[in-house]
Amino acid sequence: MTRYAMITGASSGLGLALAEALARRGRNLILVARQREALEPVAIELTQRFGVEVLFRACDLSEPLRVSGFVLELEEGDRRIDLLVNCAGLRSYGPFLAQEWADEQDLIEVNLVALTRLCHAIGNLMAVHGGGQILNVASLAGYAPGPGMATYAATKAYVLHFSEALREELKRTGIKVSVLCPGPVRSSKRRIPRLEASKRSLTAEEVALYTVRALDKNRAVILPGRRNRWLARAPRLLPRWLTRKLAGLIHRTYRPHGIQ
Ligand SMILES: NC(=O)c1ccc[n+]([C@@H]2O[C@H](COP(=O)([O-])OP(=O)(O)OC[C@H]3O[C@@H](n4cnc5c(N)ncnc54)[C@H](OP(=O)(O)O)[C@@H]3O)[C@@H](O)[C@H]2O)c1
Repeated sequence: MTRYAMITGASSGLGLALAEALARRGRNLILVARQREALEPVAIELTQRFGVEVLFRACDLSEPLRVSGFVLELEEGDRRIDLLVNCAGLRSYGPFLAQEWADEQDLIEVNLVALTRLCHAIGNLMAVHGGGQILNVASLAGYAPGPGMATYAATKAYVLHFSEALREELKRTGIKVSVLCPGPVRSSKRRIPRLEASKRSLTAEEVALYTVRALDKNRAVILPGRRNRWLARAPRLLPRWLTRKLAGLIHRTYRPHGIQ
């Protein structure tokens, strides 16, 4: 049975860089994102450049019914996924009360519900096959409360804790679980340059390379960048009131143009 690495959010940014890094290593891929038109050229390019099999599946992960349909397809199909990369993620910036509820709900569905659902479904398929590997993409923002991006930071805190817990639970099943916590990432291949990532930030390609190497070593928490590793430690050393203040300041610094 052919084995695949399945990557959600694979049409741009970090997901695309991870897809490329895995294809470079000869991995067959299943790419997932909302827009088919964005996935198709990526699949063609990666197939041509690296000679691997690249399938793609358009699925809106904010819609539970579509996710259910997709899960059923995976459960009934004969494609073996031995690496699941949950990278699709949405962000919201600005005060919570000023956000449209529909956007907040989509963010929670994609960042949290769909990720958990795919871990459950594909984790069970991996268990039947005696093992596999799961990489969930959280964020440095998940280490602290995030005034100015409250729901985003909270979903990433969930991803971090959930992934670490799952790792412990699944230790004896042969399923390895890791969680990636990048700081701001510079991306040459993101359709909309949303983040004001500084020039000192790592590029998506650098983060992807660091990540595939860390996966080889079965690292539990993958934190690329020395500065980010220090920042991740800070909330454990500082009083919570100061952590909240500093996190709010950092989120204001990195917010995109035009958002107060
Ligand atoms: N960029 C950073 O600075 C940074 C820092 C820390 C953590 N992260 C995390 O890294 C991950 C990737 O971030 P990024 O900035 O590289 O992403 P991005 O460039 O904004 O790309 C997001 C990807 O997710 C897909 N996606 C969005 N909504 C979706 C939906 N409803 N259903 C299915 N797919 C959907 C997008 O494709 P479609 O639009 O076609 O669906 C795209 O492929 C996220 O989880 C993010 O939280 C990013």
